[in-house]
Amino acid sequence: MSEKHLLVIGAGPGGYVAAIRAAQLGLRVTIVDKRATLGGTCLNVGCIPSKALLASSHHFHFARERFASHGIVTSKLEVDVPTMMKRKEDIVRKLTMGLDFLMKKNKIERIKGTASFLSPNEVQIINEERGNITINPDLILIAAGSVPVQLPFLPFDGNRVISSDHGIALQSVPESMSVIGGGAIGLELGSVWSRLGSRVTVVEALDRIASGMDGEVSAALTKSFVKQGLEIRISTKVLDAKVAEDSVTLLLEQNGQKTELTTKICLVAVGRRPALEDLNLKAAGIVLTDRKRIRVNSHYRTNLENIYAIGDIIDGPMLAHKAEEEGIAVAEILSGLPGHVNYHAIPSVIYTSPEAASVGYTEEQLKQNNLPYNVGKSSFAPNGRALANDMTEGFVKVLAHRQTDRLLGVHIVSDAASELIAEAATLVEFSASAEDIARTSHAHPTMAETLREAAFAAIGRPLHG
Ligand code: NAI
Repeated sequence: MSEKHLLVIGAGPGGYVAAIRAAQLGLRVTIVDKRATLGGTCLNVGCIPSKALLASSHHFHFARERFASHGIVTSKLEVDVPTMMKRKEDIVRKLTMGLDFLMKKNKIERIKGTASFLSPNEVQIINEERGNITINPDLILIAAGSVPVQLPFLPFDGNRVISSDHGIALQSVPESMSVIGGGAIGLELGSVWSRLGSRVTVVEALDRIASGMDGEVSAALTKSFVKQGLEIRISTKVLDAKVAEDSVTLLLEQNGQKTELTTKICLVAVGRRPALEDLNLKAAGIVLTDRKRIRVNSHYRTNLENIYAIGDIIDGPMLAHKAEEEGIAVAEILSGLPGHVNYHAIPSVIYTSPEAASVGYTEEQLKQNNLPYNVGKSSFAPNGRALANDMTEGFVKVLAHRQTDRLLGVHIVSDAASELIAEAATLVEFSASAEDIARTSHAHPTMAETLREAAFAAIGRPLHG
């Protein structure tokens, strides 16, 4: 049997993971990406560089605010932004080079260029330096990712009006910054520049920031960010904007009252949209959903037999790890295996300080769905390890079914939340109960003991409460 040839369009976490898994399963794989380096938005301008800057700025902030109480005396603390950026770039380089190695190891052919459909079976790869080539693979997987949404009255100029792409690459700390959008990007990058000394104002149209998270998590984050010096304006619409040579003025409306906000720079973080422009989907006849994402069935197949799609260009949250799961599933489906993703067990994290992490239903969703539940909450304040680590801020909230005790959702606010949520996600995946957590030994002293304590509270038997 001759091996099937799969073309993967896009080398982000969805595309490159699908390429590796498909190669492992015996397909001949070619991956194409227009970027010079692999890894897509996540590695090049998204998850990884932002986490590098979040870590550096957190160290600075922690040194300034907390070192004295640890008995560590600093005489002069300064920020060197170019060095911070270089460290970030070194991390990105290391990871993207690691992907080059993985492609070679798995014998995946790599082409640099922009892929564009000529017909349902033919894709042209446009490369200005090397010339265009046309390929006719047996199967095509589109994993082209997403790009930042622009506001029509405030287009990105990369100078005064910036997207996250620019927000991770500033070479100095702006005196002030407005951030439009209180989602993950606005809060993470707003935190970075606020910690480094910028006066940051987050403007959010809805009545709370981090609106995808549980209500108590949003409230805790708001309280904490305000304490850290960020200004948060909720229920505030941006009506218009004026860009001057050295500032941006936003015209805002809150509760019918109009105000102006002038800052040196404005970060627009109002969401991302699928990157479909280059693909010439019309030539293939690929159908979109009402929300302008590629329509796929439960096997990630588009309306065409040979074309599949995953990641940010299809429905669902725009998360790197969601795309990765879909990448594995689709590669297995293409190889005749039963690939599947449990969307209910996909965690979501905002990497601020404290971080917010969540898996499963929020309390608001349980109420909406009329699902009976018990709540167990535990704060990190009395946790011995949290005290030792100076990480006492935050809590764990466990939601379990009132009759069956099945774990329905876990929500964590803590500097350790992004790591702690992995345990909760595994338990949701395995349909565990709150009692299962409570009866599982957790090493002492660890931050994870607070998850166990919240589970004890959910079954009505708090140990330390
Ligand atoms: P988002 O959709 O998460 O948040 C955008 C926010 O902007 C929303 O709260 C929305 O109500 C608000 N908004 C929209 N238009 C507005 C306007 N005109 N004025 C004021 N507020 C307005 O989008 P975000 O943060 O840009 O992130 C894009 C995507 O990338 C999301 O899907 C996000 O989940 C993902 N991402 C995830 C990260 C993570 O998991 N840590 C990090 C970065 C991005």
